[in-house]
Amino acid sequence: MTIAGSRVLITGGAGFIGSYIAEALSDSCDVLILDNLSSGKKEFVDALVKGHGMRFAKADILKGSIRRFLKDMDVVIHLASNPDVRAGIKQPSLHFESNVVLTQRLLEAMRSSDVKTMLFTSTSTIYGEPPVVPTPENYGPLVPISTYGATKLASEALIAAYAKTNGWRALIFRLANVVGGRSTHGVTFDFLNKLKKNPKKLEILGRYPGTLKSYVHVSDVVAGMMSAWKAESEQVDFYNVGSEDMMLVEDIAKIVADEMGLKDVEFEWAGGVDGGRGWAGDVTKMILSIEKLKRTGWRPRYKSAEAVRLAAKEMLGKP
Ligand SMILES: NC(=O)c1ccc[n+]([C@@H]2O[C@H](COP(=O)([O-])OP(=O)(O)OC[C@H]3O[C@@H](n4cnc5c(N)ncnc54)[C@H](O)[C@@H]3O)[C@@H](O)[C@H]2O)c1
Repeated sequence: MTIAGSRVLITGGAGFIGSYIAEALSDSCDVLILDNLSSGKKEFVDALVKGHGMRFAKADILKGSIRRFLKDMDVVIHLASNPDVRAGIKQPSLHFESNVVLTQRLLEAMRSSDVKTMLFTSTSTIYGEPPVVPTPENYGPLVPISTYGATKLASEALIAAYAKTNGWRALIFRLANVVGGRSTHGVTFDFLNKLKKNPKKLEILGRYPGTLKSYVHVSDVVAGMMSAWKAESEQVDFYNVGSEDMMLVEDIAKIVADEMGLKDVEFEWAGGVDGGRGWAGDVTKMILSIEKLKRTGWRPRYKSAEAVRLAAKEMLGKP
């Protein structure tokens, strides 16, 4: 499918991943960014609005009518969500609202629009803790262990059903842990900020040796999504997006400290819950099979440690 010339609505387009997607489409598509700026930042897209004539609307998808934003659109790239997995422990309804209710409101509004294609950023957490690793897209049963994962899985189901009912194409991307310069959450971001406050000691959630997971650079995520969008697919299709390997959380701490020029940082393990996971709902081991997305011609440029190092450099403003 041709991307150039598409009229695209990006929900959550002023967020971390969304702003890089907007950037990638800035020269070839007519883009409207819709964001309530709850975690996104206007400054992430200011250059696109000023320099590329991209449109930006500050609005909350959970409030009022959103039909006007879908007028004349061909494609919706849906990222708006509260991506804080940990927030669901104390407030499970937060994820239900920001994933299930929000997605269903968007899908309802799309029914009376001309949109024919939807791209959705789901997550590796929909798999829960599968015994099969690297985990392929057709693994089941899906047993998420966090409300974030559960409500993303419910959103996938809603998108599939609306797409099948209305004849839309829907591409669902299950992302590993995404890292990059504009990240506003996640372990690399947390470590960097904790070390700025206390360069001598770093608290790591969980128990030594910590979680073992796959990290992917945001540039690889954007390239992967574009590759699948252009390729032939099923009407409703699923793609894992990750890197080829995993890394220990302690190695993230070491890379971040190293990039900050810190020596002899003391790592303090917080102990964690439930046999050592960082928090209730934290998956301890995750790597996705990315063979399906690779068949579209895409390859991740970075391994996990390279992605984290690059992200740390970008967050620190290093060239
Ligand atoms: N970052 C990751 O590691 C990761 C991994 C897997 C999946 N994802 C998914 O990718 C998407 C983007 O995540 P991100 O890391 O860029 O997070 P982010 O918080 O930077 O982006 C989410 C954006 O949605 C906006 N938003 C939230 N609620 C809204 C509402 N009611 N109305 C309008 N806008 C709203 C926020 O302001 C923000 O700009 C999310 O759907 C997330 O679940 C992220």
